[in-house]
Amino acid sequence: MFKWAKLFSQDNAEKEILSPDKRIRCFFILKNSGVFYRIEKDNKPIVELSRLGFLICGEKSLGDNLKLIRYHTKRCDEKVELHWGEDQFLQNNYNETTFYLAETKDSKRIMTLKFRVFDNAVAFRYEIPPQPKFQRITIADELTEFNINTNSIAWKIPAFEPDRYEYNYEKASVHELIHSVHTPLTIKTPNGYYLSLHEAALYNYGSMTVKLNDKNSLQSDITPLSDGTKAHVNLPFETPWRLIMIADSAIELTTNRVMFCLNDPPAQDFSWVEPIKFIGIWWAMYVGEWTWAPGERHGATTEHAKEYINDAVELGIRGLLIEGWNDGWEGNWLENGINNKFTVSTPDFNLDEVARYAREHNIELVGHHETVGFIDNYENQLEDAYNYYALNKIHYIKTGYAGSMMTINGRREYHHSQLGVNHYQKTLELAAKKHICLDIHEPIKGTGIERTWPNLLSREGARGQEYEGGALSPSHACFLPYTRLLSGGMDYTNGIFDITNSIKRLSTTISRQLAYFVTIYSGMAMAADRPFMYKERFSDLFEFIKDVPTNFAKTIPLLGEIGEYYIVARKDRNSEDWYIGGVTDENSRRVNISLDFLDSGAYEAKIYADSEDAHYRDNPFGHEIQKKHVGRNDTLKIYLAPGGGFAIHLKKT
Ligand code: NOJ
Repeated sequence: MFKWAKLFSQDNAEKEILSPDKRIRCFFILKNSGVFYRIEKDNKPIVELSRLGFLICGEKSLGDNLKLIRYHTKRCDEKVELHWGEDQFLQNNYNETTFYLAETKDSKRIMTLKFRVFDNAVAFRYEIPPQPKFQRITIADELTEFNINTNSIAWKIPAFEPDRYEYNYEKASVHELIHSVHTPLTIKTPNGYYLSLHEAALYNYGSMTVKLNDKNSLQSDITPLSDGTKAHVNLPFETPWRLIMIADSAIELTTNRVMFCLNDPPAQDFSWVEPIKFIGIWWAMYVGEWTWAPGERHGATTEHAKEYINDAVELGIRGLLIEGWNDGWEGNWLENGINNKFTVSTPDFNLDEVARYAREHNIELVGHHETVGFIDNYENQLEDAYNYYALNKIHYIKTGYAGSMMTINGRREYHHSQLGVNHYQKTLELAAKKHICLDIHEPIKGTGIERTWPNLLSREGARGQEYEGGALSPSHACFLPYTRLLSGGMDYTNGIFDITNSIKRLSTTISRQLAYFVTIYSGMAMAADRPFMYKERFSDLFEFIKDVPTNFAKTIPLLGEIGEYYIVARKDRNSEDWYIGGVTDENSRRVNISLDFLDSGAYEAKIYADSEDAHYRDNPFGHEIQKKHVGRNDTLKIYLAPGGGFAIHLKKT
């Protein structure tokens, strides 16, 4: 049994921190009963009086005797450049106050709370400096409250469930959140603001979920380790930033990038990192044509890989993912994952030869490592496995952690526990040393660390198209931009044209598959279908996939409502071209898109849209491709069929 010591409280002080535009006010409040904060926007409550602090294991009671020793303010207004992403430049503009607190009695331990107030967010973090009695601590619990009106509406996915983050979003009142839910947690308050609770810069700590506490306030529920504690840390230690994004509308929320501003710039040279599009030996397994495991229908053979390399060349796609190339997929791979080898190919696959052939054809291989969450098995091979790829000049890896928990030395741990967080970080740092980029499936959620580690090009971390065949409705992709995608890009495995296959029938129209390349950003974007679909059946539609970039200069959210529809425009980072994508739920829509965001001059718009008779169930292939000459004074009228979508390439002429 641990003894819990309460860190915090006492003395009276109140300090206000204003956003640069003065619309948001954050109050730091020190009372006899503890340390608190609250937030207002335009004098209306956003977060009401909320407790801060945490519990530490095994210490004698720290007492409730904290007082403010001093505070320090700072103003920042700087331009931040992202190596790749949805926006090249961000304005990191905030007012910061750091509060230095100390116990007045006993061991006089010290602690720091740092607040940053932006025009569209409030963030704060705890820092515990080294001190004589406190070299290493075990955190029993974090007591951070987010006291938001419980009549607010939240869009949630459950935490601590077997499918990690891969759930459908559900709408609920905040007062119903009695079980933990993941962040980003998007919320609409009764006074009309849109918030998202999240965290930034998650390192060496359990990831934050939230649920209602017995005072009817949302409170952090940090993912535990199997020993029941939340984290073991050496001092000095700083928690991730607790982040409350604040917007006047749902569509405005979708481009909140404060999370990236709260992360550090890259600490080393990442000029070698390049976002890419790739095809893969993948969907053929999902539709039962090929298998991951060796045998008659084995997908990852040398022969198939070479054919796919030729296809990638013909299609003008830079990368090729190969799954099932390595030893370990036989039998029930989910149970046998502890046997997976990451340097041993199956007998019918010659990695050196395939890598040589890929280099000869200027194709980047995306190697695959399915760990099934057997962390010790993977970490034991990590150095050798990454060296093996580096030797073969393979610069991209898709890692996978299928399974409900991670396993290490027989212990079962959550993917999003401190142990999981540290494991993902270890792979990322080693990959950076070997000039390898990662696309992590079953990942830890995004907290903006790809600003510091740009070789983390993408994650899955939500229900993706592999759930088609019954478990995805058209509204799912209309929730993502307002929820999951606030934590960064996602590999949704876009571009599946094989909609009516008998195993994984998709809830989509064909034009919508193009829209995803714009509405769901990914630094590694998969064109997930089999090449013949692109080369033979729908080469007219494939043109868009070929053209659309994976790196944008800026993103302008245009129209939308949570779970209903979403329309966004993005400017290419390497040309003057713009791209627009839009998706709708089960309902059809007619939208007018004003092109006033365009730069001056003339553009040729190539529009890939649903036909009037298209429908995700009855006529998913109905589409029309049109060309129009447009400029910034024009408005485009677009039809989206039920479960449909559209994509537009605006080429500067
Ligand atoms: C789940 C991943 O999301 C999917 O992309 C992958 O193909 C399978 N695991 C097998 O590793």
